[in-house]
This record gives sequence, structure tokens and C-alpha cells, in this order.
Amino acid sequence: ASLIRSAGNALRKGSGSPSSAPSARIILRYYASQPPPERKPLSLLMKLNPLVSRLALYDIAGTPGVAADVSHINTRAEVSGYASEEQLGQALEGSDVVIIPAGVPRKPGMTRDDLFNINAGIVKSLCTAISKYCPDAIVNMISNPVNSTVPIAAEVFKKAGTYNEKKLFGVTTLDVLRAKTFYAAKAGLPAADVNVPVIGGHAGITILPLFSQAISSSDFLSRQESLSHEDVRALTKRTQDGGTEVVEAKAGKGSATLSMLWWINFRGCMSEGLNGAPDIVECSFVQSSVTELPFFASKVKLGRNGIDEVQGLGTLSDFEKEGLENLKAELKSSIEKGIKFANES
Ligand code: LMR
Repeated sequence: ASLIRSAGNALRKGSGSPSSAPSARIILRYYASQPPPERKPLSLLMKLNPLVSRLALYDIAGTPGVAADVSHINTRAEVSGYASEEQLGQALEGSDVVIIPAGVPRKPGMTRDDLFNINAGIVKSLCTAISKYCPDAIVNMISNPVNSTVPIAAEVFKKAGTYNEKKLFGVTTLDVLRAKTFYAAKAGLPAADVNVPVIGGHAGITILPLFSQAISSSDFLSRQESLSHEDVRALTKRTQDGGTEVVEAKAGKGSATLSMLWWINFRGCMSEGLNGAPDIVECSFVQSSVTELPFFASKVKLGRNGIDEVQGLGTLSDFEKEGLENLKAELKSSIEKGIKFANES
């Protein structure tokens, strides 16, 4: 689905209790030519989230209808819908968290980088508006190619003098969800019990799940030993190709959005970390000095103001070390492409 959604204004200042947390905003944006059915579930999930007290839905068309519909649900969030470019400023104003899944989705046979020409410009204009209307917002970037759109956002914010590296997140959580699910199925563990860090970036071989660091609250060690090197290699490949699996299954009608929505609502912008809970760690593609690359996905400790700490990679297996070296050239070139675009166009 081609959409932009932004959320904001909810999480950082509150004590964590729904009654004291400030308001939240979600802004949705879609291309009219490809109406994504998922915008309704997203709006619904956000309206059901007790941490959200204000929900702003934005699109170039159709948002007021969705906003009116969900606004009748008797939960906390006060909902408003904004349509047309002219209303973007109004939608963003006062936001504390902005979520951007803007632009077009992949079709079978395409790479995420094939979306660059369309999505890069959309991301750039949105980030320009963010720097104007909500310069202190935490920004969650979903728009692909994430490996380039996060650097674009950083450059736009730098130019505007509003860049805060602790508040810019490239969303790679789908990779983590996939790594956990595929690993748990192979190891015969309950999926909800497993955690697997995923490092690098969010495209093909730049996605590097660290199965050697997989942990489970139940019966883990003995199972891990039963996974062969071939199993780990196959799980890595499946995780790297997870987005493509969905794109192909949807046969031209979009890419993964429903699994992403789950994260958006429960683990992302609404996370306990941003709302003040301690020790919340998520993997995300962020400004980093963990490797020589300026942006890199690794475990990140969240706090009220965004990133509290970018954590190191831990001990890697030989297979993972090799994967890390192999991903660097592609990730570097995607980052540089984003920086160049932001500064030239
Ligand atoms: C995903 O990983 O599912 C998303 O990045 C969408 C895509 O094009 O794969």
C-alpha cells in the first residue's frame, strides 16, 4: 500500500498511564490511484490504543470518512481527518511522533531500491514539512528503501537545523518479527517466546538476523543446538526475502502492511520505552557508530526522548561475521544515494 502515516504527540511526556499521557497523532497518506485497504485497520488499531489521546489521519483524499467512522468508537483518542496537501501542516502541527510509510509499494520482481525514484521525493517533502510544523517530533521511517530514506530525512533535518539523531528511526521491525517467527517454527518453540536481533539494513542481504544470539524464555539451548548450519543459512535467507515473499503472494496488490501495523500499534511509536518504561530495547536503523557506516540497524534502547543508547553487535558467529562484511558495500551505496538525493534535488 502506498501510504504515509505519521503519529505524534503522545508518548514522551506522560507518566505512562492512559489518563495522564498527552495526545497522539497519526497521519495517513495514500496515493489515490492505489487505495490501500489497510488504512482502516491501522486507524482502528490506533483508535483502540489507550496511549493515544489524539489521532490525526492524513491523506490526499478519503481520510475524513475513515476519521469520522473510527471517531465513533468509545475509546480515548480524539480523531481528526485531513485531506489534501494544504492540510498537511495542520495535521502535523503539535505532533510528537511521526510515522512515515509514504509512497508506493513494490510489485513482484522489484527491489526496494526500485521505489527510490518515487518515494524519495515524497519522503523529502514530508520531512521538510515535519521540520517546519513539528521539528521536535520523533520520526519513524517505514517508506522504502529505508536504507536510503532515513539518510534523506537526516539530511533534510540537518539543512533545516532541526536534526536530532536520537529521534530518527528506520523501521526494521518486520525483519525482527520474521526472524522470530521463522526461527521459532524451525526450532519448535512458541513464537511469542523467541527473540532474535536483526542488524544491518532493510533490504536483501543488508538484513542480517543474528540467530546465534536468539533467546527464548522456554527450553532454548537444547533446541538451538539442534539447528544445523544449513538451517541457519536457510532461515537467514528466508528472513532476508520475507518482504519479497509477501509481495509475491499479494501478486501486484502491495507489500506487507498488516504485520507492520501490528508493530506500529504495539511496539513502535506507542512503545512503553517512549512512554517512560525502562529497559525497552528494539532493533532499528539509526545513526550509528557501531560500524564504519553512518547508519546501521542494531539494538537500540528507547527512552522518553527517542534513543537512549545504540547498543553494540555482541558476539557474532563466523557466518554472521561474513554476512556483516558482505552487506557493507550495498548498504553504504544506498546510504550515499539518499544523502546525494537530499542535497542535490
Ligand atoms: C517489507 O519488508 O515487507 C517491506 O519493506 C515491504 C517490502 O517491499 O518488502
